[in-house]
Amino acid sequence: MGMACGVSIFPLVFAMSVTCLLMVAKCSNSTTIYEELRARGLPVGLLPKEIVRYSINASSGEFQVWMEQPCNAKFENEVHYESNIKGILGYGRIGELSGVSAQELFLWFPVKGIRVDVPSSGLIHFDVGVADKQFSLSLFEDPPDCAPQVNAHVEGELRAAW
Ligand SMILES: *[C@@H]1O[C@H](CO)[C@@H](O)[C@H](O)[C@H]1NC(C)=O
Ligand SMILES: *[C@@H]1O[C@H](CO)[C@@H](O)[C@H](O)[C@H]1NC(C)=O
Repeated sequence: MGMACGVSIFPLVFAMSVTCLLMVAKCSNSTTIYEELRARGLPVGLLPKEIVRYSINASSGEFQVWMEQPCNAKFENEVHYESNIKGILGYGRIGELSGVSAQELFLWFPVKGIRVDVPSSGLIHFDVGVADKQFSLSLFEDPPDCAPQVNAHVEGELRAAW
């Protein structure tokens, strides 16, 4: 009796967990953060390939992405991505950005915002606080490979201090 019960419950539990897994997979498959960028006129190459998870509030545009580890990607300048990046997505712009920094003359500057001109001028603007850095939009056509790099940011700051 007890054994019969154990046998009958196990397949049910198993079936339920498979269903859950399938639902999660379908959910995360239906949209990606790259599609969210594209839908707002932003180039998908702003975020690296290694994104494992993201969330977005459709009404406020607040988003977060997660990667396994911090990494550096090379555009014209080197860009450092923390493993958790946050910001607010709007049409043609990302505001209140955190977790992204760009290298300029051996110094690292936090990128606080990114915007493209509407209509497009072929340029993209990075707000690095002290200046508005312009890059060619064509550099950001595809999500870049991003090399794991935990310490680059810290080294840059040390060098800046000296
Ligand atoms: C999930 O993605 C795969 C490959 O990227 C695709 O073939 C499939 O149709 C997608 N499924 C859904 C439900 O979007
Ligand atoms: C999404 O944003 C709206 C508007 O700012 C806010 O009222 C709501 O609480 C947010 N939802 C979540 C889940 O954070």
